[in-house]
Amino acid sequence: MGILEKIDKENAPKHIAIIMDGNGRWAQRQGQDRLFGHNFGVESVREALKAAQELGTKFLTLYAFSTENWNRPQEEVNGIMNLLVDTISNEVDELHKSNVIIATIGDLAGLPERCQEEMTAACERTKNNTGIQLNLALNYSAKWELVNATKSIARRVMEGKMKIEDIDNKAIEQELSTNSIPDPELLIRTSGEHRISNFLLWQIAYSEFHFTDVLWPDFKKDDLFKAVLDYQSRERRFGLVSAQLENKA
Ligand code: FPP
Repeated sequence: MGILEKIDKENAPKHIAIIMDGNGRWAQRQGQDRLFGHNFGVESVREALKAAQELGTKFLTLYAFSTENWNRPQEEVNGIMNLLVDTISNEVDELHKSNVIIATIGDLAGLPERCQEEMTAACERTKNNTGIQLNLALNYSAKWELVNATKSIARRVMEGKMKIEDIDNKAIEQELSTNSIPDPELLIRTSGEHRISNFLLWQIAYSEFHFTDVLWPDFKKDDLFKAVLDYQSRERRFGLVSAQLENKA
């Protein structure tokens, strides 16, 4: 029996988020430069997307470039930006054909113009599709997003459009870049690191975490299925005790 058959598809996560890590180490182990690893990482993006489609996942959110990643050597930053542009322009036909909705979260305006144009065109072209939504986190950080949300709410209060008493979870969620997307039930991080690195801090309040030692370029469909099986072995209690969950069932 393959790993996929062991998964209870009815109860598979509807939203999976991934911190794709380990491209640099994977390349360096082979005596190659870091960009070689990022290039191979694109194949793992394909694998993860196909696996998520097979599971019937509705949203797959990938941490492709954080606001902190600008501090990397210029050559690497340029390489990643070119890779993004090339990948999206090469793959958009295929993604569109397989009914994928391409979307972004993050500060797109801070990206090189060509990257903005390519991403905006891909999002526009695929927005009416009905399959899985692939959210690429680009120039994204959760703290940036929360600062923005705070500013926006403060502005509305100052303009008299909102009362302080009306600020609740929902009001904050509406200001996040994930506002129309349910929170991820599962967050995966590859490469043996056990950190969140400023990713979706608000949205992962109740997510299950799956950490794997696999480096991102080695990540295959079965690695995503293993993460989902791990997720399904957990009991999600949302602050309740086990007995309360049994009564609810
Ligand atoms: C983390 O590995 C990886 C990145 C910061 C870049 C990820 C980008 C891609 C895989 C390309 C994405 C393409 C699309 C279309 C989404 P690292 O460099 O931090 O690895 P290290 O921890 O071993 O140094």
